[in-house]
This record gives sequence, C-alpha cells and structure tokens, in this order.
Amino acid sequence: MAGNAAPQLANEVEATGFQCRGASASYGGASGAPIFEGVDFDVHPGEFVSLLGGSGVGKTTLLRVLGGLHPAGKGSQVRFAGRPVTGPPDRVVMVFQNYAASLLPWRTVESNVRLGLERKVDKAEQHRRAGRALEMVGLAKNAHYYPRQLSGGMQQRVQIARALVMNPDALLMDEPFGALDAITKATLQDALLEIQRQTSMTVVFVTHDLDEAIYLSDRIIVLSGSPAGVARNLRVDLPRDRDQVSTKAEPRYLELRQEIYNVMHSSSGKAAGS
Ligand SMILES: Nc1ncnc2c1ncn2[C@@H]1O[C@H](COP(=O)(O)OP(=O)(O)OP(=O)(O)O)[C@@H](O)[C@H]1O
Ligand SMILES: [Mg+2]
Repeated sequence: MAGNAAPQLANEVEATGFQCRGASASYGGASGAPIFEGVDFDVHPGEFVSLLGGSGVGKTTLLRVLGGLHPAGKGSQVRFAGRPVTGPPDRVVMVFQNYAASLLPWRTVESNVRLGLERKVDKAEQHRRAGRALEMVGLAKNAHYYPRQLSGGMQQRVQIARALVMNPDALLMDEPFGALDAITKATLQDALLEIQRQTSMTVVFVTHDLDEAIYLSDRIIVLSGSPAGVARNLRVDLPRDRDQVSTKAEPRYLELRQEIYNVMHSSSGKAAGS
C-alpha cells in the first residue's frame, strides 16, 4: 500500500497527514464488540481521501477516531502529523452533517463564523479572517444574515467557513453534503475542490455516495464487513481539474465506478487493496 515504505513519505505524513495502523474501535468500553478492526491506511498531507461504505459500517466512528473524539481500541496506532491522537489535535477541524443544529440563531453569519477565533486573536483579525472564509465559500454578501434567512446549502457553507476560519491543516468532513439537493451538492463539491486547491489542506471526507467519492478524491478507502475493515484502498487517477459533466463521462471514471461498485456490493468484503 502507498505510504509504508519510502522514507520521504514518512516525513510527509509527519507534516499534516494521518496514519492508521491496526485501528479498531467499539462502543461500550473494552467489552463492546468492535465496529471496525485492523484498519490500516495513510492520508498524506494535502491529499483528499474519502471513506466510503454503507450505512452503519463505521465511517463516522472512524472519522471521530481520527479527530480524537472517540477512543481507538487497544493496540491501535492512530497518528496525526506524526503524533498519537489522544484528543482533538490542534489544527484539525471537523465538519458535521447536521449543520442546521450547530449555528447559533441569534448571531449573524459573520459572527457565527468567527466564533472559534474569539479570545484567540484580536477583533480586527477575527473580522479579516471571517471575511476571507466567507469569500471562499461564496457568502461574502450574506455576512449579515441570520441563520434563519439561509437555505440548507448556505447553512452548510457557513459550517465550512467556520472550519476554514481556523486555518486548519486538516478537515474531517462527515457527509457534509448528504442532505442537499443535487445542484446545491454539485456546487458545494466544486467549491470544496477549489478551496482545497487554494489551501492544500488534507481532507478526509465521509460519504456513502460512490460518485461523490470518485469526483472529489485523490484516494478512496472502501470500508465493509462487520466488524468492518478496509475492503479497498484505491487511487483515483483522474486529472485534478474535475468537471461535473466531462469527468463523469471519462472512461476511467466509469471503470473506477464499476470497480468500487463491485467492492461495495460483494459480500466477501475484506480483500486487500492497492
Ligand atoms: N453512540 C453509539 N453507541 C453505540 N453504538 C453506536 C453508537 N454510534 C454508532 N454506533 C454503532 O456503530 C456502528 C457504526 O456506526 P457509524 O455511525 O460509525 O456508521 P456510519 O458508517 O457512519 O453510518 P451512516 O452512513 O448511517 O452514517 C453502527 O452499528 C452503530 O449502530
Ligand atoms: Mg455516519
């Protein structure tokens, strides 16, 4: 698998990447049945990696383990920037699916976005960074709106702006576009790709949508089985300047789609991937 051998790769992972070796997790303490086990993969700095799998397979749990919000099981090695994850690492920010519940209704968009900067940087810097984050998600003109005045897609943009304002090294996203209509989803996918191009952030993106995973990612990790394992670790060797129509019509896109579809729908699950 990519990332285990070359020494320079080890240094890269030290920078802003994740490393998972033999990772497991359960609920209900050590006696709980594992949700996943033996999970090995690397996410290199600046890479966009999707965790793909069916409902209940353990994607959110794995993302929470990467983000230090859920403990990994005994013997697991989970690292960010070369250091073991024992709690939420600095410079790693999570974006959850349930955007509606997490905006403060009495604060404007701009004021919601700079929330995480309060008491960290001075007011002028808060406004500057919030303005820039809102520009990146295309909401500069809506800075003074209140959450109730926003559509679902706009609220999700605010969530992303809230994450970007922290200048994270890595973004962990849990089905962030799951509840959106197809057009809004496509627009936000493209906005996210552009933001990642500009910032070179590492992104780990959870989805059960095969097309979304291929369109966005440099690499896809397919989880399946119970307990789950890595059924496939696959590089998406499509050119980076992606387009909602032409990319999805490329023969290589269709090949990847078929291959991943087969992995997701085969019951045997845990074959080693490349
Ligand atoms: N707080 C919890 N307590 C006990 N079991 C849990 C808890 N959260 C999740 N689980 C169980 O862990 C397993 C994996 O859940 P997880 O939420 O990680 O799946 P998922 O792949 O994200 O699913 P979905 O696509 O539906 O979001 C499921 O069987 C679920 O029932
Ligand atoms: Mg989930």
